Amino acid sequence: METTATAQMPEATKDFMPINGTDYIELYVGNSKQAAHFYKTAFGFQSLAYAGLETGLKDRESYVVVQDKIRLILTSPLKSGTTIGKHIDTHGDGVKVVALWVDDASYAYNTALERGAKSYMEPTLEEDETGKVVRSGIYTYGETVHIFVERKDYQGTFLPGFKAWETPDYNPAPTGLKYVDHMVGNVGWNQMNYWVDFYENVMGFKNILSFDDNDISTEYTALMSKVMSNGNGRIKFPINEPAEGKKKSQVEEYLDFYEGEGVQHIAVATDDIIKTVRDLRSRGVEFLRVPDTYYEVVTDRVGKIDEDLAPLKELGILVDRDDEGYLLQIFTRPVEPRPTMFFEIIQRKGAQSFGKGNFKALFEAIEREQELRGTLH
Ligand code: FE2
Repeated sequence: METTATAQMPEATKDFMPINGTDYIELYVGNSKQAAHFYKTAFGFQSLAYAGLETGLKDRESYVVVQDKIRLILTSPLKSGTTIGKHIDTHGDGVKVVALWVDDASYAYNTALERGAKSYMEPTLEEDETGKVVRSGIYTYGETVHIFVERKDYQGTFLPGFKAWETPDYNPAPTGLKYVDHMVGNVGWNQMNYWVDFYENVMGFKNILSFDDNDISTEYTALMSKVMSNGNGRIKFPINEPAEGKKKSQVEEYLDFYEGEGVQHIAVATDDIIKTVRDLRSRGVEFLRVPDTYYEVVTDRVGKIDEDLAPLKELGILVDRDDEGYLLQIFTRPVEPRPTMFFEIIQRKGAQSFGKGNFKALFEAIEREQELRGTLH
């Protein structure tokens, strides 16, 4: 498998599936009300919109929170036997929808279906007094779906069917999270290339980076990864699959506990990672730690950087460099009881890659946590 140090952007002229950015991410969770509180309190998201009994829904409730360009919908069922409830029973809390902002949701849907996608939701017009939205949807790996959102004729708070969620008495300050940098999917044994082909053929994405099990392995575990990017580079989806190692890898642990393929992590960008991480830690967000010895050799590996090493070491922030610059990154512990989805905080200073130089230290840190969970065997 080819490994390149620098991400190669595909040519925009060939883009048959233009995507403006990530529109929203919907998580199915056991308790949407408490999850919304967690994302406000711990991560600094702001109250945005609500749908539930008060807006005429009978079977589910959703809270929408926002921070800069990042919108999360937190949805729970209001009764037993729903598809949402079954999703939560199988997978635990997790990402159901990765919604993509497009100019024409009918065109995106028809093009994807012609190219082999499986339909999740036919193009549907939704309207209220502030305008109209068209949404459509297709399946991707596992039970995860992409919804195409066309909102050029919409002026409302979020989507038709939602009302503004106003919380004048409780609005914790943002933590500097700005946009979704990339979202990673974990797929089963020998499934990575299937999903690489899916994103290439159905969505017009290009494979911009590949990592094999020599790049991503420790003494005990290994995985493989290919990074898919859309034409303008605003959407990046690395796809991981497990590789043979002496012990069970983090991807296998995820697949076991999620009971299937799904979103492994959401990477969110900040302009000041030291400030953001200090703030998140003070609000109770838990991060993976690498050993202090990481910082003894980091300067030799990445050269001169703008930041002082002391706060990076204090907070456990990792550094890596590629041909275009460097990046700073850190990973949270899973944000639900099952060892499944987590967040990455990333600050790019030129680098367009994903921290290959940190993989080994990072995966050893994950193995230490797997050991504590009894899942490294
Ligand atoms: Fe990442």
